[in-house]
Amino acid sequence: MVFAALEAPTVPHDLPAAIDLLRRERKAVILAHYYQSPEIQDVADFIGDSLELSRKAAATDAEVIVFCGVHFMAETAKILSPGKTVLLPDLAAGCSLADACPADAFAAFRAEHPEHLVVSYINCSAAVKAQSDLICTSSNAVSLVQQLPAERPILFAPDQNLGRWVARQSGRELTLWPGGCIVHETFSEQALLRLKLEHPEAEVIAHPECLPNLLDLADFIGSTSKLLARAASSDATSFIVLTEPGILHQMRRQLPHKTFVEVPGQDGCSCNACPYMRLNTLEKLWQCLDTMSPAIELDENLRVRALAPIQRMLEMSR
Ligand code: 13P
Ligand code: SF4
Repeated sequence: MVFAALEAPTVPHDLPAAIDLLRRERKAVILAHYYQSPEIQDVADFIGDSLELSRKAAATDAEVIVFCGVHFMAETAKILSPGKTVLLPDLAAGCSLADACPADAFAAFRAEHPEHLVVSYINCSAAVKAQSDLICTSSNAVSLVQQLPAERPILFAPDQNLGRWVARQSGRELTLWPGGCIVHETFSEQALLRLKLEHPEAEVIAHPECLPNLLDLADFIGSTSKLLARAASSDATSFIVLTEPGILHQMRRQLPHKTFVEVPGQDGCSCNACPYMRLNTLEKLWQCLDTMSPAIELDENLRVRALAPIQRMLEMSR
């Protein structure tokens, strides 16, 4: 018997046009985080921070969600919209924060603090969400923690830099899980000080996942969306931006009359770009729409347990 060789589909020359065609055929919506590459942001239906993207994933009536972000984001979309197909262009797009908080070690941590309320940053696995009382993102963490009963102690996981900042802003004492973002922890204080000397008029805007010594040098701290909004509303015309440089694409597009400077990592490395986010490419986006894979699958029992603290977050941050 003669078998025809299985040929890999030819990658179209005009990927944005091919993606657009498949998006219509599949009745798909393409959601992208600000840390995606400019080419991906340019084909997305919606670009946002973690909170905005989860709201969008909960509200969309599309049959297919293509999540251009990292695994915990696509998993959150599946938790919120179990009836939809949720695609992630590269399944290996993880997150150092989620990896730093394994579910069994987290269970042991909780067991040591049985009287605490558990607040987890959305950058964690479904198995950690399922063990949490409340999920937060970098844009609502302070306000959510402030709403919790004053007499209850609080565990905060997995980002200790965000946790320290939230504790300071909210006036609440938090017991922290010792996790960190490999991207935001790489910014060099020396490079920032040098840039401040070169651009004395610039406002320093930073994501709260940065180390405390860098946050101390910032004029404004907030989630990616809040940094974008600040750049628009501020009287300043130049900004030193302490977060993943993907956000600069929207800043420059929406505010062409303003100047944005990115901060390099230690020793001038380009490790300020998130290696997980950047695994997604235009070609993989086209391919996942073509093959309808890889799709996020989740045990239903786990999904239901992970859903409750996410819904609580959405209700409390309306
Ligand atoms: P945002 O809450 O700003 O979307 O941050 C997500 C993230 O992964 C930052 O590293
Ligand atoms: Fe995770 Fe940091 Fe990448 Fe955000 S930037 S996805 S926190 S590794």
